[in-house]
Amino acid sequence: MKSLLTLSDLSVDEVYGILDQAELFRSGMNYPCNGKIVANLFFEPSTRTHYSFESAELHLGFGILNFSPEASSMKKGETFYDTVKTFESMGVSALVIRHVENEYYKQISNVKVPILNAGDGTGNHPTQSLLDLLTIRQEFGKFEGLNIAIVGDVKHSRVAHTNFEIFKRLGMNTYYACPETYRDDTIAASPITLDEAVENMDVVMLLRVQHERHQIAQNMTEAEYNTLYGMNAKRLEKMKKDAIIMHPGPYNRGAELTDEIVECDRSRIFKQINNGVYVRMAVLKRAVE
Ligand code: CP
Repeated sequence: MKSLLTLSDLSVDEVYGILDQAELFRSGMNYPCNGKIVANLFFEPSTRTHYSFESAELHLGFGILNFSPEASSMKKGETFYDTVKTFESMGVSALVIRHVENEYYKQISNVKVPILNAGDGTGNHPTQSLLDLLTIRQEFGKFEGLNIAIVGDVKHSRVAHTNFEIFKRLGMNTYYACPETYRDDTIAASPITLDEAVENMDVVMLLRVQHERHQIAQNMTEAEYNTLYGMNAKRLEKMKKDAIIMHPGPYNRGAELTDEIVECDRSRIFKQINNGVYVRMAVLKRAVE
């Protein structure tokens, strides 16, 4: 049974193993899981993660249970723990779980079904980081020595927290640029201005402004935010040759990026989404083999 809760639980070799498996799936490898059932339990909204897990499950032939908290016995007071135990008792082969609470998985540590963490609060988003890594490796063929800046709402971002840890372990030079209120001093990265990032980085990774997690509402308009911390046509011109722009999505158009950035030549946003399917096929295979 191989859960995937955080990438810090994995060795570098295991991370490479998942990326290599994802590439095999991208090349058309088949791994039939017919007869097995996966349950997707999303306690927080999601488009990319939920439906790319579901696409991955369909490609592998799993039966799929899509759980909706709003239409479940949780509305009658059933707890998170008892909900998960219910799916375990049904004999599912893996549980894909997104939850608003950091480290929700500690509440269900006695469950004997592999848990694939689809995002926990501001904590971790391991499959997002894996698809980011796959995208970066496809672009540059390596990680060692690459310069990467994560820009924006670092403090509230599980993507940033997971990525900084694994980027550093893979030998990348990590930087961040963000408003003071979004700073997080626990991360393994050096501060940089956005303009320095734009001119010097191989990868500029933008983050969504996560309004739903803010205690105090952001006091800038989207246009003001973009001028200070967002990508736009003016900054695009200043990027290094071969540098790319990434964003885990969903994005706030006009804030962290303007319309012309979303589908520009340097944007890998849709490549990231595509890679998400293969990475999730790889972690599902690992969970049930
Ligand atoms: N990147 C990401 O986790 O997007 P969703 O919230 O749409 O799953």
